[in-house]
Order: sequence, then structure tokens, then C-alpha cells
Amino acid sequence: MKKIILDTDPGVDDAMAIAYALTHPEIELMALTVVFGNINIDFATRNAQYILNELGATDVAVAKGAAIPSVQSPLPHADFVHGADGLGNVYPGSRPGIPATTAASLNPDAKHAKVDALDAADFIINAAKENPGEITLVAVGPLTNIAEALRREPELPGLVAGLVIMGGTVDEPGNVSPVAEANFLNDPHAADALFAADWPTTIVGLDVTHKIMLGDSHLKSLDDRAGESGKLIWESSRFYVDFYTNSGAAKEAAEQGAEPQCAMHDAAAIAAVIIPDAFTMVRGAARVVHDGIAIGQLALDRKGYAYAIPHWNNRPPTSVCMDVDDVRVRNHFLQTLIDHHLR
Ligand code: BDR
Ligand code: CA
Repeated sequence: MKKIILDTDPGVDDAMAIAYALTHPEIELMALTVVFGNINIDFATRNAQYILNELGATDVAVAKGAAIPSVQSPLPHADFVHGADGLGNVYPGSRPGIPATTAASLNPDAKHAKVDALDAADFIINAAKENPGEITLVAVGPLTNIAEALRREPELPGLVAGLVIMGGTVDEPGNVSPVAEANFLNDPHAADALFAADWPTTIVGLDVTHKIMLGDSHLKSLDDRAGESGKLIWESSRFYVDFYTNSGAAKEAAEQGAEPQCAMHDAAAIAAVIIPDAFTMVRGAARVVHDGIAIGQLALDRKGYAYAIPHWNNRPPTSVCMDVDDVRVRNHFLQTLIDHHLR
């Protein structure tokens, strides 16, 4: 069994990753540690509880984390991608413009997984110390919680099995600027700090996640065959698919007659834990630009040449996914949810 802590800002594709991790028989999902990002921290925490509840997994711990980035001012939340509630406007009682509040006050009848007394960073540190070398941290939101855990416990890299991050892009165009991906842009200082530490780190960025698209026919098969997980993913993805189909490459594909589709970004990070051989990786020292026009850019030293500029020196290599067997990963995700959904 692989023990995973999923650091997440749920999020429509975060919900896909949660369902995937929960249902895969080789994964023990220990906790969701929650961070701001797609939505504010209160909604993100509430969504984490709600998703676990819907999927029949209220025993999975939830730990609330950072509300704002480590250094820079917060950027607007991505409500135009994930809806005003962060879940494609399917959270019970959701309506546009709803104020930040707690799960209990928004939907008093709902039963939710409990929020742990520890904050996300302390939860991660404690869990790593109690299970030395066993936990893989999978981070699919801004990297604020993980960087804070590293700041509080510099020995953390030696206490975990690895760190898998959904974020960044090397060759593929960014999704928030020509060079930046959203999770890295939301806290570039945190992301950059992580790549200075010596832990086995894998980046699952847009270079691969934009190759693993889910069409409406795939999503409908989950609705029909994957129980409550499938229904939640189908319903919450309606808004998200609409966003994709009206922007970027999915819009171009739709204009050529392709069915409506979306990326399954965060779920790809779970696939990288379970079937890493589906991904082609390069290794090199990684930096994340934290100011100027290229803010949020993952800047990777792919060759290790000697340069006069020292910013990449003395950084351990990070593995970065550059290509993927997209059919294998998509089918693995769909089949896992169809074969193993809990409810
Ligand atoms: C990442 O940003 C968020 O909007 C998604 O949940 C994913 O983690 C993709 O760039
Ligand atoms: Ca996310």
C-alpha cells in the first residue's frame, strides 16, 4: 500500500484526484491537507469535507492550511474555471456571489468529515514523523502548505517517501500566462523553496496534463458506471468543461469538431504515483521565477552545463514529466473509478 497525503485546493480536477486516490486499491489516502487556490480556504476546506462525505470516506482526515501565499499578495481565485463554489456550482445551496463561510453555516444538514485540530503543515510533519519514509506527499494546489511544513521541519524531506507536484510547465504554453501554470503562479516563492530541498520530487505539469484530456463521453461513462464518485465528477465538471471548451486548445479542438473536453490535471499526479512508467521524465535543477514578467515560470536546467549565472547551482535534481502515455493514464483513471468506487 502507498500512503498518500493529498494537499489540495478543491477544485473540480482536485475532486477527480481525490476520487482516484480514494478508490485505488494500492493507495491509502491518509488525509486531505487543504490550501487556498481555486477557491478561498474556507470553501476549499468545506469542499474537501463535502467530497469525502459524498464519496463515503468521512474517516479520511482533513487539515486546514494556508489562506494566502507565503510572500506575495493573493491573486483572484479561479471562479471562472471552477465556479463560485469551487465545485462547478454543484455544492448544495451554491449560488454566484455567495460569501465565504463555513460548511456548517452554509449547509447545516450535511454530515462532513471532521477538520483536524492541527493545521495542514503540522499535520504533515506529525504524520511524516509517525510514518518515517512511508508517506508520499502529493501536492495539487499552491505549494504554500508544503513549503511551510518544510520551513517548520527542515528534516521533512528525509521523512517522506517522495513529493509529487502538479504544477508548472516547461515546453507547453502556460494556463495563466504564456509561461506560468496556476499552482506555481499562486505561490511562486513556496514552489521555488521546495526545489532547493533534497527530496525525491516529481513535477507533473502542463507538459503532460494538457495531453490527457477527458471528453464528455469519458465523463458520462463515470456518471453511468462509477457510483457517487462518477456522479459528482460528471455534475461538477459541467462548468469546468464549458470553460475549457471556450478557451485555448480545447476550444480549437471543438472548432474542429471534437467533443467538449477538459484536463484532469490533479488526477494525473495520482497516476504518476501509481503508474510512473506511463510518464517520460527529464531531470534537472528547478527554479520558479517569483517576480517580473515571467513570474510563476518553472525554469528547468535540462542539461547541467556550467553557466556564469549561479541560480541553479547546488540544487538537487527534480524529475519533470515531459511526455505521457495519455491513453493508458486516462483508461487507468476511468477504470479505477468504475471498478472500485466506494458508493
Ligand atoms: C492546476 O490549477 C488548478 O486550477 C487546478 O486544480 C490544478 O491544480 C492546473 O493548472
Ligand atoms: Ca488543484
